Amino acid sequence: MRLSVPPESVEILLGERSYPILIGSDLLSEPRHLAAVPTGSAALIVTNTTVEPLYAATLREALAARFRAVHVLSLPDGEAYKDWRTLNLIFDALLGHGCDRKTVLFALGGGVVGDMTGFAAASYMRGVPFVQVPTTLLAQVDSSVGGKTAINHPLGKNMIGAFYQPRLVLCDLSTLSTLPARELSAGLAEVIKYGPIHDLDFLDWIEANIDALVARDPAALAHAVRRSCEIKALVVGQDERETGLRAILNFGHTFGHAIESGLGYGKWLHGEAVGCGMVMGAHLSRRLGGIDDAFVRRLTALIERAGLPVVGPALGADRYLELMRVDKKSEAGEIRFVVIDKPGSATVRSAPDAMVREVLAQCCAA
Ligand code: NAD
Ligand code: GLY
Repeated sequence: MRLSVPPESVEILLGERSYPILIGSDLLSEPRHLAAVPTGSAALIVTNTTVEPLYAATLREALAARFRAVHVLSLPDGEAYKDWRTLNLIFDALLGHGCDRKTVLFALGGGVVGDMTGFAAASYMRGVPFVQVPTTLLAQVDSSVGGKTAINHPLGKNMIGAFYQPRLVLCDLSTLSTLPARELSAGLAEVIKYGPIHDLDFLDWIEANIDALVARDPAALAHAVRRSCEIKALVVGQDERETGLRAILNFGHTFGHAIESGLGYGKWLHGEAVGCGMVMGAHLSRRLGGIDDAFVRRLTALIERAGLPVVGPALGADRYLELMRVDKKSEAGEIRFVVIDKPGSATVRSAPDAMVREVLAQCCAA
């Protein structure tokens, strides 16, 4: 069943850097949804080899009404390519096409394309406008919103980047119909995240609707994307550059990033690592007194129902600790974790290594 979801807008309020997040079905083909985009002589659609054949022509056609030249650059697909070498392909294309500083970049794809295109936009000619057109659930509920852009370094995930806000986020829910099931589950990890850290009513709603979400019910997906964007906009609106509050959006990510870089980027999906990382984060929160066993079990069951792994890979506790020290939240070599201090609320704090080792022993494969 295909249901048409009329566009709704969530505003992210950041003074002169404010912008709308448009959420609805079949948005890509409608030039009128691009009204907030600055006009320029050229547009560059940055996408990848998987997404280009699915959606680039539709977006290109819509952009042709506003830009004299619309170029398309297709990057290799995968987290393993979120690096300097691939980023440089964007600069090669911009310079090769003679793009000036009014050129608008469009990131058409998942979080990998979005993070790299945003970083390219932040640095090409010291900053050109860009638009996020997220086509994965993960990118629609998280990565396209809030202006974090980055590439990976072999020694650490998302270690090189910039805060740089897009001018518009266009979440076309119709694009989720072609997303592989494993990627949909990965996106659900970031949806689930918002419940324990901020909104218990939303957690109840996700639990009641998890089967509908996995089955891609359009109305359920629309609500999940909208509520996730509302929460993210609220948090980022208060703390754009993560001086405090915004860090709660990284619940599960310290453990998760260690899984991703420890296994090699791309082996586990980012959302899978975050899902499992949230299980570890919940166990740590329980040990620190923020939640009880029942809440840990509740969260673990939901993550599992979303189709995500709940047992961590056996990297060894020493390796986990080593990897987790390379984290943007670390201070003077001390790892800092996002923990739930009571259901629906989170904070950032350190934990004794011995306690973290207990959590890893409990949560990882032997
Ligand atoms: P991804 O970008 O690798 O996309 C997942 C896969 O789905 C890719 O193979 C992609 O080609 C394919 N795909 C994309 N859209 C599709 C569609 N509509 N139909 C079919 N296939 C499609 O992964 P992701 O999960 O979207 O993003 C993960 C990345 O996002 C990570 O690098 C992570 O660090 C980053 N991230 C950034 C932020 C942020 O705030 N900037 C937040 C969360 C995650
Ligand atoms: N994904 C975490 C953040 O945007 O802060």
